[in-house]
Order: sequence, then C-alpha cells, then structure tokens
Amino acid sequence: MKKPTRIPLVLLASAIATALTGAVAAQDTAIPFVMGGGARNAPLPFADGKTIYEHVCQSCHMADAKGGKLSPASYPALAGNAKLAARAYPAIMVVNGLGAMPAFGSMLSDEQIASLVNYLRTHFGNSFADGLSAAEVKTLRPAAQTAPTELRGR
Ligand code: HEC
Repeated sequence: MKKPTRIPLVLLASAIATALTGAVAAQDTAIPFVMGGGARNAPLPFADGKTIYEHVCQSCHMADAKGGKLSPASYPALAGNAKLAARAYPAIMVVNGLGAMPAFGSMLSDEQIASLVNYLRTHFGNSFADGLSAAEVKTLRPAAQTAPTELRGR
C-alpha cells in the first residue's frame, strides 16, 4: 500500500499558534506528532481516551472507527472488533505499531494508553467490561521503551 504522507504538523501547529497568540505560546501548543516518525519521549498533551482517539487515531481509523472506506484492508475497523476482547492487544498495537500503523508508545504515558484502550473497548459497538490499568500498560512496553517523562496540558 501507499506510504503515509509525512505531514509536518509540528511546523503547522507552531505557525498557527504563533500567528494567533504570539511566539511565547507556540512552544506550549505545538503538537509533537509527525506522521510516520515522531520525536521520542515527546508527550502528546491529551488527557483522556476520547480526545486521544480523535487527535491521534481517527485520521486513519475514521471517526466511526470503521476504518478506511476506500481501502478497508489498509485501515482496519476498530468498531465491533472481536480482537479487542483481549485488552492487551490494542495496547500492544499502540505501544509498538505494526506495518503502516505508527508506534505511539514513546508519545503516550501508561495512563493515556490505558484511558485510550478503555475508551475503544467500551465504544464503537465494543462492550468489554474488564478495564486495562496503567500498571498493565507498563508491563506491555518493550524493555527499551520508556513512557514520556513530562506531560503537558493536563
Ligand atoms: C497512520 C495511520 C494509523 C494511525 C494514526 C493509527 N493506526 Fe491503528 N492501524 C493502522 C494500520 C494500517 C493497521 C493495520 C496494521 C497491520 O495489520 O499491518 C492498524 C491496526 C490497528 C489495530 C489492530 C486492529 C486489528 O484488527 O488487528 C488497532 C487495535 C489499532 N490500529 C489501534 C489504533 C489506535 C488506538 C490508534 C491511535 C493511537 C491508531 N491505531 C492509530 C493505521 C493507523
């Protein structure tokens, strides 16, 4: 499949923030997320699962979580997805990525990933009652990966 286009969102966000609120605020509002790349340990400033989904996941998996309309095989549906029955599975996908899915482990804290997974597993037609804890997310990270150390915007 086609490689995702690299969108310099950091630059765009900085430029917009600078234009709107001046250079001082730009540093706080720039979102350190670059498609297909991403700075290590650059935390994404979204507090809850819903907000993370809308800002980070929705661009590929769509607002209704039904995946890519033009190429459903490329962006799988997360809506009504039986694989989410295993609560570690979506967390491992988010932490490590796979193929065309970027890894977000170094941009999201254990708490953020737990909140995101719990949101996914209780919305979009998914109703799995057993919640994932931040402590469990920690154990799912590869040894070399650390969670972002500093969180902003919370
Ligand atoms: C750049 C596009 C992109 C973004 C952004 C993205 N994904 Fe994915 N995602 C994919 C692709 C492509 C796959 C299929 C990977 C494969 O199987 O090779 C996938 C697969 C998955 C799967 C496995 C689905 C299955 O049925 O096996 C889960 C769970 C998932 N993504 C969750 C998320 C979450 C949560 C986020 C937000 C943090 C996210 N994705 C962001 C592209 C993306």
